[in-house]
Amino acid sequence: MSRLIIEGNHRLNGTVSINGAKNSALPVLAATLLARGTSEIHNCPLLSDVAASVRILRYLGCTVSRSGSCVTVDSLGLCRSDIPDTLMREMRSSIVFLGAIAARTGEAHMSFPGGCELGTRPIDLHLSALRQLGMEIIEERGRLECKVNGRLKGTTIALSFPSVGATENILLASVTAEGTTSILNAAREPEIIDLCKYLSRCGARISGAGESAVTVEGVDTLYGCSHAVMPDRIETVTYMAAAAITGGSLVLKSVNPEHIATVLPAFEEAGCNIISSDGEISIVSPKRLHRIRSVRTMPYPGFPTDAQAPTMAMVTVADGTSVFIENIFESRYKHAGELMRLGARIKTEGRVAVVEGVPRLSGAQVDCTDLRGGAALVIAGLAADGITEVTQIHHIDRGYEKLEQNLCGLGAAIKRVE
Ligand code: UD1
Repeated sequence: MSRLIIEGNHRLNGTVSINGAKNSALPVLAATLLARGTSEIHNCPLLSDVAASVRILRYLGCTVSRSGSCVTVDSLGLCRSDIPDTLMREMRSSIVFLGAIAARTGEAHMSFPGGCELGTRPIDLHLSALRQLGMEIIEERGRLECKVNGRLKGTTIALSFPSVGATENILLASVTAEGTTSILNAAREPEIIDLCKYLSRCGARISGAGESAVTVEGVDTLYGCSHAVMPDRIETVTYMAAAAITGGSLVLKSVNPEHIATVLPAFEEAGCNIISSDGEISIVSPKRLHRIRSVRTMPYPGFPTDAQAPTMAMVTVADGTSVFIENIFESRYKHAGELMRLGARIKTEGRVAVVEGVPRLSGAQVDCTDLRGGAALVIAGLAADGITEVTQIHHIDRGYEKLEQNLCGLGAAIKRVE
């Protein structure tokens, strides 16, 4: 089992380039199944979740290769419509393959993605929407057996919550459906826009991407194309929090400041000086961070739930008390207990966490509880006195490319020990 050994109290300074977004690369890779021929996906981050998507594509019969940050997928050889349980378990977001496989092959067989570290993660919205498009779905003993008689049929689908994954599944299922599909209360995340850009380049007819009402006019066939994945907005926030907690200064390149427009004010409230321009953000942090009055996670364009843990780590050493209200996932404070091992003062109750800033953290052994919670522990370790040992780092490898190498390049002292 790998772990990270962090020697704290090194200021971060310098420039870092942000990678392509995991949460965009994964649905785009699933979407390549729909495109006859070859798609080149540029700016594809090197992550274990991306590797899991590639394994699924290869299992299904696609030819996939990687050269640098470009993943090339040829879906011509697609010959299966099932995903084995082991591959489904590797990555819970593999459920996004459901819409694409069923649309392309007329059937899909897979297990439920299962429970998860963020609490129960139901897929009822996905299944209800796909049923409305005409998919027959039998749920039996943890398995999904799906069949399409003829072609899926466009309809109006009103989501009771703007679920990112459900919106993606509907898009994947409807782009080649018969007739028009309207998605009401669709997720508006930038990753949805990125997926629609890829699909549109392949020949899909989508309007309203990034808005609450999205319209898809089904087409007969999609063709492969070339697409560059958008920058990772959560990786951006993670490096900003890492700089802030160490009192450092960073320039982040290859970013889209607009995507984190509701996060930047929180960093400014914490006393950071932020200048953003086209594709770049610079952050200069104060000697001691101030508290952030309140952070409420919301669907986009609100404060992203994925940025909650890194931001919480940052304010553990702020001057004053910060309050978090987690509105997206029911159980997303597991990192709080681990941060407390480092000396943070946090009280959680239900959806609320109250963080009373302390002057200093001290190194300890902590376990990653999930991807963003793991990043929060690394951030805290950067500012803790002495040595912090972070275990269960496979969670971090799901979503951060070369995190410790990048941080070391900025002045941190981190070793990965196998
Ligand atoms: C995606 C992101 C994840 C992010 C989340 C919210 C990917 C791979 N993952 O996850 O990093 O934290 O969006 O921004 O893109 N829900 C239901 N029924 C459903 C689907 C969702 O009740 O059928 C609930 C979930 O339990 C959760 C909320 O809706 O409470 C949001 O989930 P959703 O937007 O679907 O998140 P994901 O697509 O799973």
